[in-house]
Amino acid sequence: MEIRTIKELNNLVREYEKNGEVEGFDINSPVNLIGWVRSNRDSGKILFISFSDGSRLNSIQLVLKKDEVENFDEIRQARTGAAIIISGMIVTKQQDENQRFEILVKKAKLLKQSSESYPIQTKEHSMEFLRDVAHVRPRTNKFYSVMNVRSELAFAIHNYFHLNNFKWVSTPIITSNDAEGAGESFNVTTEQGPYDFFGGKKASLTVSGQLHAEAYAQAFKRVYTFGPTFRAEKSNTNKHLAEFWMVEPEVAFCDLPKLMKLIETFIKFVVKTVQKRCAEEIAFFKKLDGNENIDDRLNELIDKDFAKLEYRQAIAILQDAVSKGVQFDDTNIYFGMDLATEHERYIAEKYAKGPVFLYNYPKEIKSFYMKQNPDDQTVAACDLLVPGIGELVGGSQREDDFEKITNRATELGMGLGDIQWYLDLRKYGYNKSAGFGLGFERLLMYICGVENIKDTIPFPRTYGSLKF
Ligand code: 4AD
Ligand code: MG
Repeated sequence: MEIRTIKELNNLVREYEKNGEVEGFDINSPVNLIGWVRSNRDSGKILFISFSDGSRLNSIQLVLKKDEVENFDEIRQARTGAAIIISGMIVTKQQDENQRFEILVKKAKLLKQSSESYPIQTKEHSMEFLRDVAHVRPRTNKFYSVMNVRSELAFAIHNYFHLNNFKWVSTPIITSNDAEGAGESFNVTTEQGPYDFFGGKKASLTVSGQLHAEAYAQAFKRVYTFGPTFRAEKSNTNKHLAEFWMVEPEVAFCDLPKLMKLIETFIKFVVKTVQKRCAEEIAFFKKLDGNENIDDRLNELIDKDFAKLEYRQAIAILQDAVSKGVQFDDTNIYFGMDLATEHERYIAEKYAKGPVFLYNYPKEIKSFYMKQNPDDQTVAACDLLVPGIGELVGGSQREDDFEKITNRATELGMGLGDIQWYLDLRKYGYNKSAGFGLGFERLLMYICGVENIKDTIPFPRTYGSLKF
């Protein structure tokens, strides 16, 4: 059996220890590995190299003895980051759960040395420092773990939809509309001059794939889009990126109660999948400061029914909190206000003590496309709030009446020309439709216990910062 990675080797050694044998695997045969030096400790006649090949979080230890390895002196020079190839024997170490074995190296070759200026040391670095060296930070355990969870979470999301008969729609990145109408889009121009490429039409980067997804939901019934979205939000908070990934399903014939059910089932599925597939990473996060409760945090999403409150009730709860002396930066709580993160977190953390839907928001603070409720004040929209973050999901049933949606867009001063096609969908059998948007990086923050959203995406883009 040819073993190529530490991960494969780790699984085989575990199985071997459990069963005493593994078909086709001989614990005494030499193994060959290729990868990088994480650290190289020289004790004169023996080298201890912490070695990683990218296949799993935990590195393994290589042991090289001076009188056994021909080019010992060459390997002794290998610095952190250097690429090496080795061949050696497995030595099992029962006591360590993460390191079931080490490798007694018989042959080794330095493939490519690493410079003395390699920025990452074995000591712990601050997150700020690592953000500044984002090109090498995936080589740290912390970022390796977050980015592995990111990859697994993306697959789980696609898998959920695939298993539930949703079609994946690639909605455009370049658009002519500002779907949310919040005036936060980036313009797209060419070197030659503004707005000439598309026949004088102004183009922007998408803030949401929803409008285009709605068109496809009218053909496939259940669709989703999952891709990068762009918002020129100047707020420098720990949960806003200028480029972030959003998951946006859209379901024809769906209303708000069914939508909330979909959001809950979907989140439970993807979190459960990650919990199963990223056990090593989760165990690693658990050891980090302030993250000891990671299991409870994940189980909170999986086991607990999400609470539901009307926006109106949330306002009453917050007013009551203020009257009892709870300190907010903004204590002026009234129906019609846009809740700040501090308010959302209070509702999730102190009141619901877990994930909570707020629904039936005032129409004045929500987008033009949301279904207007009979009370003429509110729309059939919901936000899912979670502890530690606040808003994780925003969704709604869509206004299906052509007149109403057109009037609302006009009231809000939106240029109808660019969205006429979207409004027209209401003329062709548009019975109902509902959908939501989940901030992919915000879910990663919650899962991994990462405090700043910049540390959940490989190369973050935020206001005033574009180094990579
Ligand atoms: O609430 P939002 O703005 O909803 C929409 O865009 C709808 N079109 C979704 C739909 O119904 N199809 O954004 C959805 C989610 C938010 O709840 C938040 O988690 C995330 O996207 N989000 C951001 N994440 C990171 N950085 C930003 N600047 C974000 N803005 C929104
Ligand atoms: Mg929102």
